[in-house]
Amino acid sequence: MNKDLESLVLSEDQIAEKVKDAAAWLDERFKAGDTPPLAISVLKGSVFFFCDVVRAMQTPVQLDFMTVSSYGSSTKSTGVPKIVMDLSSSVQDRDVILIEDIVDSGHTLVRMKELIMGRGAKSFTVVSLFDKPARRAVPIRADYSCFEIGDEFIVGYGLDYAQQYRNLPYVGILKREIYEK
Ligand code: PRP
Repeated sequence: MNKDLESLVLSEDQIAEKVKDAAAWLDERFKAGDTPPLAISVLKGSVFFFCDVVRAMQTPVQLDFMTVSSYGSSTKSTGVPKIVMDLSSSVQDRDVILIEDIVDSGHTLVRMKELIMGRGAKSFTVVSLFDKPARRAVPIRADYSCFEIGDEFIVGYGLDYAQQYRNLPYVGILKREIYEK
């Protein structure tokens, strides 16, 4: 385990199980229809979870990417998610699957829902690896969350602190001394 972590939250094997369950849930919800759903990765945090989930799905999906950022280099959300890079496809009349690494304050999800539904999507389904309900500032939740956590600062498997630790293949709790120094 990385020396800056105080404990492990999800090992690689546990992540693989969560991915399989999330993909099965999506397959059940989106049985092959005429138009494949559009799976959107909310970058950067969801990058690995997104890739793993869509590859584990049996249902055909199309892929798109959006970069949204509200944390900068801090551990606290600014509350104003910024669209850094927009989608390249239209969501008009599409079933949209939004894939997130974590729902924390909920601001990002609210912003994404407004944006996607405002552009005429047919439906909006959210799958998130983590849910941190204790920090919710706005009443919104994912349709499917793999793992609920308390108010700990977690990193790895896409999740960062100041853009670091994203490439750890597991998720762990960051030592307080790292972000409080
Ligand atoms: C993180 C995470 C979610 C969002 C959740 O993204 O990936 O998108 O915060 O927090 P919220 O519920 O409080 O809005 P961040 O803005 O840190 O950008 P990143 O994905 O590039 O790390």
